[in-house]
Amino acid sequence: MIGDLQKILISEEELDAKVRELAAKITEDYKGKELVMIGILKGSVVFASDLLKHINTPMYLEFMAVSSYGKESETSGIVTLKKDIDIKLSGKNVLIVEDIIDSGYTMKYLKELLKDRMAESVKICTLLSKPSRRKVDIDIDYYGFEIPDEFVVGYGLDFAEKYRNLPFVGVLKPEIYTRN
Ligand code: IMP
Ligand code: MG
Repeated sequence: MIGDLQKILISEEELDAKVRELAAKITEDYKGKELVMIGILKGSVVFASDLLKHINTPMYLEFMAVSSYGKESETSGIVTLKKDIDIKLSGKNVLIVEDIIDSGYTMKYLKELLKDRMAESVKICTLLSKPSRRKVDIDIDYYGFEIPDEFVVGYGLDFAEKYRNLPFVGVLKPEIYTRN
């Protein structure tokens, strides 16, 4: 697995420190509010589960799944809902937790969908962001790291469903994703 990487971009130690820092901010911001964390499957699973361990205020955990069509490393902008939550959001403070924001299409779709459900607030927390790739404007409330336009895997992020279990974020060798 490691042989498929060009380099390690964010180490386990850096991820851990950032996760604690974000969790401390979230704890502060959501004190006394009804927080519903919605992790976006599958990429956010590792980040969301590390993050919530350090959030020190009552919260609910839900998951949604979406898919965007296009080539494996490129999105088309058409997003569809594959798995929904089954709780009501009215009066709740929703925090969407995502692995990475690239074009922004996925987050734009989800934020609009959840806002329509009468949530008190809908905010976004992403581990990674690639600002140079943005196609639509997205307000990111919490982010871990801004990264350059390179395809990354590990810490939940995949390429063709592989590499999610790497404990750090690494840059995939371009020949792996341009192979066919
Ligand atoms: P967006 O809708 O273009 O912002 O796409 C976001 C989704 O694309 C993320 O949730 C990831 O699943 C996927 N994605 C974008 N860039 C990467 C990457 O570098 N590595 C792994 N997945 C990525
Ligand atoms: Mg994803």
